[in-house]
Amino acid sequence: MPTPSPAPFPTYITTPIYYVNDRPHIGHCYTTLLGDVTARFYRLLAGATPTPPGALPKDVFFLTGTDEHADKVVTSAAAHNVTPIQWADKNAAEFKKAFAFMNCSNDDFIRTTEDRHKTKVLEYIRELQKRGDIYLGDYVGWFDESQEEYLTETAAKEANFVSPVTGKPLVKKTEKNYFFKLSAYEAKLKAHFEKNSDFVLPEARRNEVLGRLRTGLQDIPISRAVTADPTSQWGIKMPDDQSHRIYVWIDALFNYLSVVDTPDRKVFWPPTVHFIAKDILWFHAVIWPALLMALDRDLPKAVYSHAYWVRDGRKMSKSLGNFVTIEVLEAYAQKYSLDALRWYLITQGPQGATDADFSHSKFIEVFNADLANGIGNCVSRVGNMIDKYFGGSLPESSSVWTDTRWESTCADVVPTYIDSARALDLGAAFEAASSLIKDVDDLISETKPFTLAKDMAANGPQVANILAFCAEALRIASVLLSPAMPEKMAQIWQSWNCPPTPGASLEELCIFRGPHSLKPGQKVSKGEVLFMRADAAEAPPA
Ligand code: MSP
Repeated sequence: MPTPSPAPFPTYITTPIYYVNDRPHIGHCYTTLLGDVTARFYRLLAGATPTPPGALPKDVFFLTGTDEHADKVVTSAAAHNVTPIQWADKNAAEFKKAFAFMNCSNDDFIRTTEDRHKTKVLEYIRELQKRGDIYLGDYVGWFDESQEEYLTETAAKEANFVSPVTGKPLVKKTEKNYFFKLSAYEAKLKAHFEKNSDFVLPEARRNEVLGRLRTGLQDIPISRAVTADPTSQWGIKMPDDQSHRIYVWIDALFNYLSVVDTPDRKVFWPPTVHFIAKDILWFHAVIWPALLMALDRDLPKAVYSHAYWVRDGRKMSKSLGNFVTIEVLEAYAQKYSLDALRWYLITQGPQGATDADFSHSKFIEVFNADLANGIGNCVSRVGNMIDKYFGGSLPESSSVWTDTRWESTCADVVPTYIDSARALDLGAAFEAASSLIKDVDDLISETKPFTLAKDMAANGPQVANILAFCAEALRIASVLLSPAMPEKMAQIWQSWNCPPTPGASLEELCIFRGPHSLKPGQKVSKGEVLFMRADAAEAPPA
């Protein structure tokens, strides 16, 4: 096992800030959930106690929010006969509600229309001007209106002059613009990529960026002209030039810095990881680091760019009307529990470079295998036997039946789990945690405590040993699974009287028969069924 690197605290985790032209859907919920599970893992690692609302967390800061100055917010607002800010208010509230429903534990929620953000953006732009990284020039280019993004001549040609994302025709535009000297950072960026092989993850995405970087960097426009058109008036005006507003992408990227650029929060800089999807990789992997280099700030340690949720193999889009909406997610949570939904999204989602299909049959398969027949069944079997054979008190384990495999199993699983989660491979982390449950199941099948228990006078100490060992391994598994399923694991802790000791770190909590273990004689009640088996033939909810 490699030597663990020093404690990674303080940790700062971010998600993209989402456009408020429309309501949230599975894609937005997924990235924020990825951030949430990672933040919960780091809090556990640090032994962080819950931070009261409004107080500043010590070890981990998790941020999400909304990006509000996009032109499409103005268009959408007009179509609904409201002002842009009214439309932004309504949809920002929908995003907040969606993330609360998903039980996301973000420490803050930034809206780019807030003063605390706008003032900082002006400071950063002024600073860049002072350092000579911004100049006024002419821009002629192919504009992708749906993405609010200019494409280079080569990229536009490659895309057949339609948006590579939405297929809408690109528009040729000439504008007087302020430019950021991106080209000046090409060599520095390449060197940074060279030196930091984990800067962009997964590897396929890193290679994509490197390929594009090889074709060279041009300066980029960072402002848009303000005209009589009301759309052009939405946004933050350039400092000392009211005829230009700051390009929405530049305004948006600064959120990661503006939120923690205060005396009490600056300890969190630089970010541990920016979670994003593949659509916005270039902005995060190249433009953002270059802006930070220009501002002489430390760069984020990693940019993790996941793939997409798709439906029946097709991209989800408005025109196809095939989004997995919040209502669909709510219906799944209502029927199968929120934690089952979180588990499905996290373990079956597009965390790597491959898209993932949202499929009802897969959901049921995973629900039954991992949850109902997996942890749920295992916990209830062990709880029921302790109840039946030992009156619901954890039996004293003696040396009659000894098997050291559990100490060593847990001693292997815990570091694998920690290393995988720190490498942002949550799938591998939860696989390691789930292997403990399989081991408990196998031990029960092998040793058959229910058969031994028919003659308690002769086999009592052996049954006690088996069940005490199983319960302890399950306690450890529940701690490891808690970042993904906080509510269900808390339900186990309540039935078994073993809530994690506040302030104890993950490693301390997970020592097999260590100081935080289940104690002989303590109450272990049967508790309610965690996950009721689902019928594979039943129709999707909603
Ligand atoms: N506002 C910009 C981001 C600025 S960040 C400084 C933006 N917003 S967005 O509303 O379009 O959100 C894009 C992000 O939503 C993706 O990067 C991803 O995190 C998430 N998803 C949107 N659709 C998705 C899927 N179909 N699947 C998975 N996640 C996707 O771009």
